[in-house]
Amino acid sequence: QMPDIRCNHMAKLIIVSNRLPVKLQEHEGRLDFKPSEGGLATGLGSVYKKKNNLWIGWPGMVVEDESQQQQIVDNLNGQNMHPVFLSEKEIKEFYEGFSNETLWPTFHYFSQYAIYEQQLWETYVEVNQKYCDELVKVAEPDDTIWVHDYQLLLLPSMLREKLPESTIGFFQHIPFPSYEVFRLLPWRKELLEGMLGSDLIGFHTYDDMRHFLSSVNRLVGHGSTHGWINTGNRSLLVDSFPMGIDYEKYEQTAESEEVKKREKIYRNNLHSKKIVLSIDRLDYSKGIPQRLQAFELFLERYPEFHEKVTLVMLVVPSRDAVDKYKELKEEVDELVGRINGNYSHMNWNPIQYFYRSYPLETLSAFYRMADVALVTPMRDGMNLVCKEYVASKLDQTGVLILSEMAGASKELSEALLINPNDINQMVETLHTALTMPEEIQKQHMQHMQESLRRYNIHHWVSMFMDRLSYVKIKQLSMATT
Ligand code: G6P
Repeated sequence: QMPDIRCNHMAKLIIVSNRLPVKLQEHEGRLDFKPSEGGLATGLGSVYKKKNNLWIGWPGMVVEDESQQQQIVDNLNGQNMHPVFLSEKEIKEFYEGFSNETLWPTFHYFSQYAIYEQQLWETYVEVNQKYCDELVKVAEPDDTIWVHDYQLLLLPSMLREKLPESTIGFFQHIPFPSYEVFRLLPWRKELLEGMLGSDLIGFHTYDDMRHFLSSVNRLVGHGSTHGWINTGNRSLLVDSFPMGIDYEKYEQTAESEEVKKREKIYRNNLHSKKIVLSIDRLDYSKGIPQRLQAFELFLERYPEFHEKVTLVMLVVPSRDAVDKYKELKEEVDELVGRINGNYSHMNWNPIQYFYRSYPLETLSAFYRMADVALVTPMRDGMNLVCKEYVASKLDQTGVLILSEMAGASKELSEALLINPNDINQMVETLHTALTMPEEIQKQHMQHMQESLRRYNIHHWVSMFMDRLSYVKIKQLSMATT
C-alpha cells in the first residue's frame, strides 16, 4: 500500500504577492538578486524564511529562456521562494496597465488619472488565474494561503473554486476608497466578488474597512455584522490590522558602528546645522511636489534658515514605464532645479536630491542624522518610512511631520500631523519642528517608540494569523448549528 505522503508534511504558510521580496537584475552580464522596494516587501521579509513557508511572486524581470527560468526556479526554491514569470505583454497590461493605471490611481483617490480599458482588465483576469494555477501546484489542503494587495484581488475566489476547503487570507496594503470613488470602476462588482473568496480580509485602518463593507453592501448586496459577511453559502470576516515594522532590525542597524561612521561622514559633508529628510518611491500619491513647494515657501518666509537647513530628499525610482510617473519625474527634477537655482550658495544647496535606491545602512544613517522627517503623502495605505524613522532615533531627538492621509497617522498621534494640501500649514509646522525644544521632541519620540516596538511586524503577523484560525473555527461551528 502506498504511504500517504500528505501525513508527513508540515502545514505551511504560502505568501502570494505580485512581486517577490527580491528582484532580478542584470549586472555585468550576470543575473543577481536585489531587495525589492515598497512597504510590502520590506515588511514581510522576516516571515517567509521560517520553516517550510513559501513566497510566490514575480521576480521583477522578463525571462523568456526556459533553461534560464529553470535556473531561477532552482535558485529561489532554495530560499523559500517560487517565481511566477510574466511576459512582456502581461507586464504592460496587467502590471503597468490595470494594476497601476486603473486600480492604483482609483484606490488613492486620483481617479482622474485612471484609465478604463477592457483589454487591460482581461489580462488582469488572466494573470490572476496564472497565479492561481501556480499555487494549486504547490499548495496542500491544510496550508494557509495569504494573498497580498491590489494586483491580486481576484485570486481569493479563483483559489476558493479550486481548493474549496483551504484557508485563505487577503490583506490590502493600499487604501480602500469610499464607495463613491470605488463605484467608478467598470469591473467593481467582479473585483469585490474576487476578494470575497477569502476567509479573512484585512486592511490597515478602520476607515478602509468601513469603505470596503459599504461597497460590498451597495454593489453586491451583502450586509455585515461586526465585520462578518454572509455570502449565502459561507461566512467571512473583515477587520483592520495596522502593519508594523521589524522594529529590532531598524534599531540594531542604527546602533551599528558602520552606520554611525556613515552618519558622521554625511554630516561633515553637509555643513548645515539642521537636516530635514524625505524618502519615498517616486509616486504621485506621495505628495513630493507639494512638499517641495512647502520647503520653497519656508525658505522664502524664514531667511534666517538659509545655509542652516538642508532638505535631504531621496526618491526611489518606481514604475518608470508608466506615463504619470515619467511626468512626475520631470516635475520633481524641475522643482528641485528651480529651488536650488534660486537659493544655493557656493557652500550650501538647500536640497540634496538623490534619485536612486540605497541599502538599509545608508537609509539608517539618513534617519539618524535627520532632525525632521517630512512624510507628507496625499494618500497612503500605511507608510512605513515614518515608522522606520522613529525606530532609528536612538537618542530620541527628532521630529516627525506626518500627513493625516497616511494610515500611520491613526497610530502616531504624537507626530505633528498636517494636511498635505495645506502648504501654509506645512511651512509653519516645519518651522515648529525645527525650533522644538529637545525635551518635547524626546517626549513625543518616546511614546511613538514604545508603541511601535510593541506593535511590530511580528505582532501584526500573529494578529492576522490568529484571527484567520478563529474564522475557520467559527465557520465550522456556524455550519453545524
Ligand atoms: C506599494 C504596494 C506594493 C508594491 C510596492 C512597490 O508598497 O503596496 O504592492 O509592491 O508599492 O511597487 P512596485 O510596483 O514596484 O511593486
